[in-house]
This record gives sequence, C-alpha cells and structure tokens, in this order.
Amino acid sequence: MHAFPESVTTLLGKTVVADMFKWYLSAQNKFLVWIEEGEECIGYCGGVVMDGSDAFGSASGMTQFGMQAGMKRLLLKPWLLFHPEIRKRLPFIVTNLKRKLKRLFKKNQPKPIVVKQPTDEIKSGLVVIGVHPKQHGKGLGSLLQQAFEEKSKVMGAGKMELSVRKNNQKAIRSYERNGWQITGSEGPSYLMAKTILN
Ligand SMILES: CC(C)(COP(=O)(O)OP(=O)(O)OC[C@H]1O[C@@H](n2cnc3c(N)ncnc32)[C@H](O)[C@@H]1OP(=O)(O)O)[C@@H](O)C(=O)NCCC(=O)NCCS
Repeated sequence: MHAFPESVTTLLGKTVVADMFKWYLSAQNKFLVWIEEGEECIGYCGGVVMDGSDAFGSASGMTQFGMQAGMKRLLLKPWLLFHPEIRKRLPFIVTNLKRKLKRLFKKNQPKPIVVKQPTDEIKSGLVVIGVHPKQHGKGLGSLLQQAFEEKSKVMGAGKMELSVRKNNQKAIRSYERNGWQITGSEGPSYLMAKTILN
C-alpha cells in the first residue's frame, strides 16, 4: 500500500489488497516473492506463468477473483468510481463482471471445455513489483527481480515479460539494470522482456 499509494486497490483498502495477494497464492501457476524486515513486508513481486492454459489474461483473473470484495468496498467509497484507473478500465471491469455473473449462474452446470491455445514457449509475466518508498535505492528491487527470475526458471519459463508505464523511469531503470529490454510499446506502456536460460 505504501509502494502504490494512489492505486485504486490501495484506496479500496486492506480487504481488497489482501484479495489481490490471495489471488497470487490461489493457483500453482502464480507466485509471490517478498522481503520481510521484522514483521513488515518491505517489498514484493508477483507473477504468473503463462503456458496457454488460462482462458483469459492475468488482469482478468485477478479482477474476477477480487470482484466481490472490490464491489463491496466501492459501495462504501463510491467516489472511487471516478478514480482514473476505474474510469479507464470500466469496459474491462464490466466484461469481467459479466463473466463472473455467468460463472455464478452456471455454477452447477458442467464446466465448458476450454480450447487451450497451443504454445511452444512457457513464459512468466511479472505483474507487479513494489518496494516501500523508505527502502528505495538499496537494491531491494533488484533482489526481488532476481528471486522472480529464479522462481520463473524453476517453473519452467524460458522468457519473462512485463509492461511498465513509460513515465515510470525509476522502474524502467531498475528493470534495465537487471537485464530487461524494451521490446515494444502499447499505448502509455512499454513492453519489456528478458530471456532466461534454463
Ligand atoms: C521500481 C522499484 C521496485 C525499484 O526498487 P529499488 O529497490 O529502488 O530498485 P533497485 O534494486 O533497482 O535499486 C535502485 C538503486 O539502488 C542502488 N543500489 C544500492 N545498493 C544496491 C545493491 N546492492 N544492488 C543493486 N542496486 C543497489 C542502485 O545503484 C540504484 O540507484 P539509482 O536508482 O540511483 O540508479 C521501486 O521504485 C518501487 O517500488 N516503485 C513504486 C512501485 C512501482 O512503480 N512498481 C513498478 C510498476 S509495477
């Protein structure tokens, strides 16, 4: 919450943040690495291994997982509906709300067969990384990226990918220092990747 003070997840409160962490711990293809000091978590990094078996992307998965707590908190803090993150992602949120409702109604019916996209390459996606602002500039972000890379290797990934806002120079510098390269551009974000040898 200290690392992302303006993010809507932080503003929605601890329950929603906790749900986000639960999502990372909810399946074997997702993972979290973190650094503790005393009883506090001072930095963490979350990722997902993509082998084509997920029907939808990680953002959709996380949104659907945290939908219930998120909606409850939004009712208590309705002004957050106007938060730029929510406004920008409204169509995406509505699509996922529909998917979630569809799933609830179809709960007792047999699961549809999802046609897996064939992929010859297992990749990991670095979804989030955050270090407490008081701890920036000490190499903790690098340490987390090294742990992320190790975990990716263990899970069979040969390549790591991420997306970062073009104006987040601090993060881009940190990624480049750790061997990531800009591979493309998507709206306000750069796509970055790093190939890892297994
Ligand atoms: C991006 C972020 C995780 C980087 O964390 P960090 O710990 O500061 O990053 P690094 O490990 O790369 O360390 C950076 C600095 O520590 C210095 N450093 C000190 N000791 C070091 C060590 N032992 N090893 C490596 N670097 C060290 C580096 O020289 C570098 O200095 P510089 O920025 O002046 O060049 C952090 O800025 C952050 O949490 N930002 C907010 C959240 C965010 O935007 N996340 C990314 C999008 S999801």
